[in-house]
Amino acid sequence: MAREETLVIVKPDAVRRGLIGEVIGRIERKGLVIDEMRQLRIERDLAERHYEEHREKPFYAELVDFITGGEVVVARVSGEQAVSVVRALMGPTDPAAAPPGTIRGDFGTVITENLVHGSDSPESAKRELDLFF
Ligand code: RTP
Ligand code: MG
Repeated sequence: MAREETLVIVKPDAVRRGLIGEVIGRIERKGLVIDEMRQLRIERDLAERHYEEHREKPFYAELVDFITGGEVVVARVSGEQAVSVVRALMGPTDPAAAPPGTIRGDFGTVITENLVHGSDSPESAKRELDLFF
């Protein structure tokens, strides 16, 4: 067991749909802690740095356009195994394939509009948290 920190982003589709509380509430009810949280519009430069691992992917331009296209909520979340626990709550990347009971499985159908971001490793979490907090 290890206490970890992770970055959560409630993406623009979820903010537009009034699902901030739903997403953050699931994380809280699971037993993780919201240490810091704020709403902002992500600048293109910050989005490009956040998603730099995907720069060469065919979906990169769409991804950056989407994440900069509306307000988001960013949160510093901590707890035992926070990185993998948040990923489990989110479900797989494609909401159409995500099982019911997960955030993506319960609320989405479109891969770009998949409601939530969570860091994929403790190393990614440190890098991403340094970008936003
Ligand atoms: P995230 O980074 O946003 O938490 O999502 P993830 O780890 O589950 O997925 P990742 O592979 O890191 O992809 C980042 C985001 O890019 C979009 N995507 N589109 N069209 C496509 O095939 C495709 N694949 C990925 C998704 O919005 C994904 O969240
Ligand atoms: Mg990812």
